[in-house]
Amino acid sequence: MLIKNICCIGAGYVGGPTMAVIAKNNPNINVTIVDINAERIAAWNDTNLDNLPIYEPGLADIVKETRGKNLFFSTNIDKAIDESEMIFISVNTPTKTYGKGKGMAADLKYIELCARNIADVATTDKIVVEKSTLPVRTAEAIKSILHNTGNGINFSILSNPEFLAEGTAISDLLQPDRVLIGGESTDAINSLSKIYEAWVPKSQILTTNLWSSELSKLTANAFLAQRVSSINAISELCEHTGANVNEVAKAIGMDSRIGPKFLNASIGFGGSCFQKDILNLVYIARSYNLTEVADYWEQVIIMNDHQKRRFSDRLIKTLYNTVSGKKIAMLGWAFKKDTNDTRESAAIYVADHLLNEQANIAVYDPKVPYVKMQSDLNYLNTRTEEDNAQGLKASKTPYEALEGAHAIAIMTEWDEFKTYDWKKVYESMKKPAFVFDGRNILDEKEMKSIGFDYFAIGR
Ligand code: UDX
Ligand code: ADP
Repeated sequence: MLIKNICCIGAGYVGGPTMAVIAKNNPNINVTIVDINAERIAAWNDTNLDNLPIYEPGLADIVKETRGKNLFFSTNIDKAIDESEMIFISVNTPTKTYGKGKGMAADLKYIELCARNIADVATTDKIVVEKSTLPVRTAEAIKSILHNTGNGINFSILSNPEFLAEGTAISDLLQPDRVLIGGESTDAINSLSKIYEAWVPKSQILTTNLWSSELSKLTANAFLAQRVSSINAISELCEHTGANVNEVAKAIGMDSRIGPKFLNASIGFGGSCFQKDILNLVYIARSYNLTEVADYWEQVIIMNDHQKRRFSDRLIKTLYNTVSGKKIAMLGWAFKKDTNDTRESAAIYVADHLLNEQANIAVYDPKVPYVKMQSDLNYLNTRTEEDNAQGLKASKTPYEALEGAHAIAIMTEWDEFKTYDWKKVYESMKKPAFVFDGRNILDEKEMKSIGFDYFAIGR
């Protein structure tokens, strides 16, 4: 099928950057991104590019280049669906918060709504591409909804999981390790492959059956998360034995069979994918009665929760077993650097533990607004919104957050944290001045020579 118009349902972290890059490399294809959230669409259309709803290095430049030419943002979902030959589904699939599979299974209600929406308004044949991460065999459900419309329209379903990481989304999209396309119809697969071939070498475009494609996405994230949990498990052992986790990571990473990536010990992984996808994998394994398989992967999550708890426990213990009424400065709220996304960020859980101990938290993050921090905390439902607002404040500048603090907790590895005038910070803090470096980004020798009591993960 010749593709002239693409519609993408969902203008989020996945849909926005992916479609911008597709539009940039395919000037002859019109790409329309639609969303039910009118505020989000308005932000994507804002003339001031600083107001785009998603921060990703390089994204604003591509939006500037393509918006209004062949990249459009709209709330008119039905029109965009009807006018397109190819429709990407990039809506969110959060973990279910109710009913069967609560806390484990992916909530597919948004996906189902999209499928019904497409079935209702389509008047010509369509290729429907699942972009959101979905549990294995979701395509079956989408297929059954679309094929039972009785209007004689032909729908081909493809799975095309995204492997972009936030903070590096644009470079991941421009130079992907591979593009994966799963499906049954060769014609549909070729149509999508052509779009990627505009900038990705054909040898890097893999085609598989639908189910392999869906399962590959969950497996890739499970393997990556497992590496982080593995190195984090070793970080605790290092703290007890005098080994240095950075040295261990370097030593094992030089073994080409292991490789250097994803070996940074941290306060624990966050983000919208890892936890959700592993829980999903565990849920699927359990539903096939594969108890050992399910327990095996679940342990990755248990280790991750332990790492977050261990970090706050160590901080409290070091501050003479009480943080009540003490000012704790948190640097970073995002789940990693170069993104304004905070989903499952370790900072939320560490803040929650510290608030339970009545700490006064002052947070500085270069890209996350205060309202987001508050809504993340309120979502946990641990205490009243007033108590959260009382216990956690955001600072406009790092120095304001750090002034008068008893301890600093580094939660995100933002580059700018390395450039601060740490002598000045030391002067302004209560003594002894403690630093808990949850990301191992500061120079231990330098911090100690200034006078800080410095603690890093795995050392
Ligand atoms: C991930 C996958 O990498 C991506 O392919 C997938 O499609 C979506 O999920 P993302 O969540 O954006 O991407 O971030 P990623 O860079 O994978 O990091 C996930 C978490 O692990 C972050 O909290 C990060 O700080 C943490 N991490 C990563 C570590 O703690 N140590 C590491 O060595 C690497
Ligand atoms: P992701 O990280 O997977 O991209 P986001 O939450 O950032 O997740 O983006 C998903 C987007 O999908 C949200 O902006 C949400 O409003 C949108 N969305 C969810 N359901 C629908 C729907 N039925 N129709 C249109 N947009 C939807």
